[in-house]
Amino acid sequence: MADKQFHWGLIGPGRIAHNFAGGLQAIEDGQLYAVASSKLERAQEFAKRYQAPRHYDSYKALADDPRVDAIYIATPHRFHYENTLLCLEAGKPVLCEKPLTVNAAETKKLYETARRNKIFLMEALWTPYLPIWQQVRQWIDEGKIGTLELANATFGNKLARDVKDRWFNPELAGGALLDMGIYPLAMSRFIFGENPASFTAHGRLGPTGVDEFTAVTLVYESGAVAQLSTNFISTNTNDYTIHGSAGYIRIHPMFWAAETATLVTADGEFTTSRPHRASGFEYETEEAMRCIRQGLMESPLVSHEFTYSIMELMDGIRSEIGLKYPFE
Ligand SMILES: NC(=O)c1ccc[n+]([C@@H]2O[C@H](COP(=O)([O-])OP(=O)(O)OC[C@H]3O[C@@H](n4cnc5c(N)ncnc54)[C@H](OP(=O)(O)O)[C@@H]3O)[C@@H](O)[C@H]2O)c1
Repeated sequence: MADKQFHWGLIGPGRIAHNFAGGLQAIEDGQLYAVASSKLERAQEFAKRYQAPRHYDSYKALADDPRVDAIYIATPHRFHYENTLLCLEAGKPVLCEKPLTVNAAETKKLYETARRNKIFLMEALWTPYLPIWQQVRQWIDEGKIGTLELANATFGNKLARDVKDRWFNPELAGGALLDMGIYPLAMSRFIFGENPASFTAHGRLGPTGVDEFTAVTLVYESGAVAQLSTNFISTNTNDYTIHGSAGYIRIHPMFWAAETATLVTADGEFTTSRPHRASGFEYETEEAMRCIRQGLMESPLVSHEFTYSIMELMDGIRSEIGLKYPFE
C-alpha cells in the first residue's frame, strides 16, 4: 500500500470533519476518497468541497467500498461504538474521534473485535502527535525541569445552553468531561507516562442532565499531582503547565491545539513554536497511515491501553459526580 495513494473514507461530515479533511490536504500520499452521511446532499456537498470522488447516503456502503483503505469517524459520542463496529466488521481500519466510546466496556468490546480481526483501531486524539507536544516530551525526557511535581490545566469554554446540541444532550453522551475534559486527562497521562494511583472529582450537572463543570485531582504513585478542570460555563486560560523540581513548562492556549510552549529553568525563559502544517489533524492521520501500512493493530502512542485507561478513569469520574447517560 506504501507506494499508492491512501484512500480515506469519512463518516459524519459535520463540524470537526472539516479539520480532518483540511489536514489530509497537507498529506501528499493520502486523499479523501469517499464521504458518507445520513443525508445524501450533505455527503455530496462535503465530497465536492474536498474533491472526494465518491459519496454515499449509507455508512455501510462506504465501509463496504473496496477502494477505501481506512475510515475516519466524526459522529457524536453515542454513535462511535456502532459506527466503529460496522467498519471493523467490514474489515476496515478505523480512526474514530474522541472519546472512542461512551464508556470503558464499549471500548473493550471494540478492541477485542479489532484484535480478533487483526484490524488497526485508534482513537483520534490528535494532541499527543502535535510537534510542540513532542518538543515538550523531549524537554521532560532530557530532565530540563527535573522531577515532575504538579500539573495544572483548564479546558473551559462558555457555550450557549441548547439541549439539541450534542454538548448538552444526554442522549448524545454530552457534557464537558467526555467532550473537553478528556484532553487534560489524556495529556496528563502523556506527560506523567502512567495512570494515576488515585483521584478525586467534583462535578456540577446542569438542567439538561450533563456535567457543565468538572474538576479532578489526580495523584500519581510518586506523590505528584495534576489539577485539571473543564466546563461549559466560563472561558478559561486553557493552558497546561507542568512544574518540576528544576523548572516548569507552559503549553500555551489552546493547549489541546498548541503550537507554542515556554520552558522556564534557572537558565532563563525560552519560548518556541512549532506551527501546524495545516489543521493539526495531519499528524495523527499520518501516524494512522504509517501504522496501517506497517500492519500494526495500534499506534504505540495513543495505544489501546492509553485510550482504555482514560475511558476507565472517565467512568470513575462520572460515577463520582453522578453522571449516567439515559441509554446506559
Ligand atoms: N479532535 C477535536 O479537536 C474535536 C473537536 C470537536 C469535536 N470532536 C469530536 O468529533 C465528533 C463530532 O463532533 P462534531 O461537533 O463535529 O459533531 P456534529 O457536527 O454535531 O455532527 C457530526 C455528524 O454526526 C452525525 N450526527 C450529528 N447529530 C446526530 C444525531 N442527533 N443523530 C445521529 N447522527 C448525528 C451527523 O452525520 P450525518 O451527516 O451522517 O447525518 C453529523 O454530520 C465528536 O466525537 C466530538 O467529540 C473532536
